[in-house]
Amino acid sequence: MSIDTASLLADEARYCSFGDTVHYVNPPKIFTGCEGSYMFDDAGTPYLDLQMWYSAVNFGYRNRRLEDAMTKQLNTLPQIASQYLHPTKIELARVIAQDAEKKWGSQGRVHFNVGGAQAIEDSLKIVRNASGGKSLMFAFEGGYHGRTLGASSITSSYRYRRRYGHFGDRAQFIPFPYPFRRPKGMTAEEYADSIVRDFERKFENEYHAIWDPKTNQCEYAAFYIEPIQGTGGYVIPPANFFTGLKRVLDDHGVLLVVDEIQMGFWRTGKLWSVENFGIKPDVLVFAKALTNGLNPLSGLWAREELINPTVFPPGSTHSTFASNPLGTAIGLEVMKMTHEMDFGKQVCDAGAYFLDGLRDLQKRHREIGDVDGLGLALRAEICTEDGFTPNKALLDKMVDIGLEGNLDYQGSKRGLVLDVGGYYKNVITFAPSLMITRAEIDEAMALLDQLITRAKQA
Ligand SMILES: Cc1ncc(COP(=O)(O)O)c(C=O)c1O
Repeated sequence: MSIDTASLLADEARYCSFGDTVHYVNPPKIFTGCEGSYMFDDAGTPYLDLQMWYSAVNFGYRNRRLEDAMTKQLNTLPQIASQYLHPTKIELARVIAQDAEKKWGSQGRVHFNVGGAQAIEDSLKIVRNASGGKSLMFAFEGGYHGRTLGASSITSSYRYRRRYGHFGDRAQFIPFPYPFRRPKGMTAEEYADSIVRDFERKFENEYHAIWDPKTNQCEYAAFYIEPIQGTGGYVIPPANFFTGLKRVLDDHGVLLVVDEIQMGFWRTGKLWSVENFGIKPDVLVFAKALTNGLNPLSGLWAREELINPTVFPPGSTHSTFASNPLGTAIGLEVMKMTHEMDFGKQVCDAGAYFLDGLRDLQKRHREIGDVDGLGLALRAEICTEDGFTPNKALLDKMVDIGLEGNLDYQGSKRGLVLDVGGYYKNVITFAPSLMITRAEIDEAMALLDQLITRAKQA
């Protein structure tokens, strides 16, 4: 395929809204193909993708098995109004609900929508409804739950709300234990405990503004968590944190909503990242990799008490494309495919190899201040030479050089696709394909080495 890049970019500048995130790089990049772990530009240069559409394409671009499932559905029942039933909607809901019941001992139901933020909106309805209309939520500093008006109100960045006024209420934002940037003199575990203690203190008496000891009622309906912060920089909390937090929530009747939109579907070596932390959700929200980035589909699972038809009756919410059959057919195949083998082990083994590579790279570049990972959710924090001061400028250069497609791997041209996250926008948030091979990981390390070396010289 040959495209006229200059004319496409001119039309884009004239006809496309700039309100999305395309213009974070200059000039915007046009890709024309993808396969496995790679994106291709018009000249056929492969770009090793280490972020896979923000973890929506966990199972590799053009995954044949998932494409076949989509094609089969396309040839049988591709369209149906969401008012009617079709088999894969029911089967996918059953598989997810049965898995949850097995893991957490709670019966529940699944409700589908289209995008991540829309599923978050549905979850807000469920917890507001179940708590008698309470509209206040807790969430984390550094948390990200989407850009619709409701989801923005529980996402920590004011930047996403600044120009739009308030819709309902903002969440109260609680610090997240960030091991690399914890207070001096504390272990990561001590820091996690201190955050839980500070949070618990809010319930000590009525004067801390959230708790009525006469009725044992909290003014807040739910706590929204990402077990590992995604946009916040793939921050992995210490193991003691969530068990402590959950105890406080249970003691005070506050629901736990787990946002698995970015970390779900095996990114961390488990189907749900929350499984790494030994706590049970009341509501769990998912999207992205449910369909490997093919037909959009999202959803939530909620405990039966919160979602049964008496409390959440027909018409409580609706979207034309919710539970669309192309999406549910692929979602069902994702669940079948990943349960046929020890998928978690495959992810953890590849993740350990990737993390070793990053540690090795860190030894050669003082600017890599921190590396960490759980499964194939990995981070490298780019700093100045002191290995601690955030260095957004250096990472921005790395991203730009990667997208130029002029790196060299064993004599052929390569590009590298990276995503930037973190509180200081200095963290490479690695979300490679969960099917990534050892050879591709070796290539990733060689390209990162070249990239950082060139960016330091630039
Ligand atoms: C944790 C988390 N929640 C919610 C969302 C919003 O999902 P969507 O972009 O599909 O609306 C995202 C997207 O990046 C996310 O990472």
